[in-house]
Amino acid sequence: MKMKVGVLSAGGDCPGINSTIHWLVNSALDKDLVPRRGVMFDIVGIIDGWKGLVEIKPEKPESVKQWIMPLNLDNVRTWDRYGGTRLGTTRLNPFDPQKDESAVLMENYQKLGLDALVVIGGFDNLGVAYKLYKQGFKVVGIPKTIDRDLSETEYTLGFDSALNTITSDIDRLRTTAGSHSRIFVVECMGRKAGWLALEGGEASGSAVILIPEHDFLLERVIEILKQQRQSGKRYSIVLVAEGAKPRGMAEIYEKRGRDGFGHTYLGGIGGFIAEEIQKQTDMEVRYVALRHLQRGGPPTAHDRRMGRKFGIAAVDMIVNEDFGRMTSLKHGEITSVPLKKALERLSLVNVEKFYNTKDYKSLDKIL
Ligand code: F6P
Repeated sequence: MKMKVGVLSAGGDCPGINSTIHWLVNSALDKDLVPRRGVMFDIVGIIDGWKGLVEIKPEKPESVKQWIMPLNLDNVRTWDRYGGTRLGTTRLNPFDPQKDESAVLMENYQKLGLDALVVIGGFDNLGVAYKLYKQGFKVVGIPKTIDRDLSETEYTLGFDSALNTITSDIDRLRTTAGSHSRIFVVECMGRKAGWLALEGGEASGSAVILIPEHDFLLERVIEILKQQRQSGKRYSIVLVAEGAKPRGMAEIYEKRGRDGFGHTYLGGIGGFIAEEIQKQTDMEVRYVALRHLQRGGPPTAHDRRMGRKFGIAAVDMIVNEDFGRMTSLKHGEITSVPLKKALERLSLVNVEKFYNTKDYKSLDKIL
């Protein structure tokens, strides 16, 4: 049997996507596996996520050339070691109620003769994949987001690379903070989830960790920093997630509208905290927002390995006709879970289990 499979990445990029595609293609095109599987794969990459499937004119060869990249062992050979996504990505939501382009997308999908589609995405874009699945399309999902906020999986691609970036960037700040005896407020990503802040804070030994799941009191943050000074510490790091907020206040976001899924662009809470500490104490404060540095650079060994495992698992799922599901890591093993289940809720930090609400740090205890 012959099968034409499309693969796309949608939403924010991250290290690990290219590794996934590399291994997906390597597994799908492995000649030795053809007799056992009974499937000959033709794998095509779709450029710029859903946008590619919306914009393409399947009857025009030049448009197909623009939006479709045939994938083979040669052209993906070195992809495993590169960050970002070689297929490109956008935040276009084909089911955006303001501009619904899902009908043209589904028509193009059929005109292209795709037998199945692999979607590498986070909560929003696996949501799109699930909607297509409900319309009868054969879809497989691969979880990808540095926020690690998808349920039903212990891992989402990109998290480990982002975590390592946060840790090494804080190491850099540490030396200058120490030299000048300053407080550094560092803002990391994560949207509604505090995993990056919590685990980045643990890895870097940050004095204060602020997460979206627990609204903080500025007075308490200042008190902790003063205590640190009194105990002889020359500098302190405050690591704050972009979605964290002081009690009684709303999240801080950029005033530039919303993306196709209705989300605001979070950012600025770090600057706010730094300014308040500066105003209310005699400590010298600096503020750094790590922003997209966290999504850049090459994948860590862990992201390369997880990309490999998820990419190979996605091919197996297609062979086994396990559609409407997402690759997943559960209890340390690779499996698959229904997209429906993974999309029921976001995976957020369980404050009671993992966060010290008195001292704003990780709750290190035996569970
Ligand atoms: O969802 C991943 C993420 O990196 C969030 O942590 C962050 O809020 C957002 O994407 C930033 O999106 P953009 O790349 O559109 O600025």
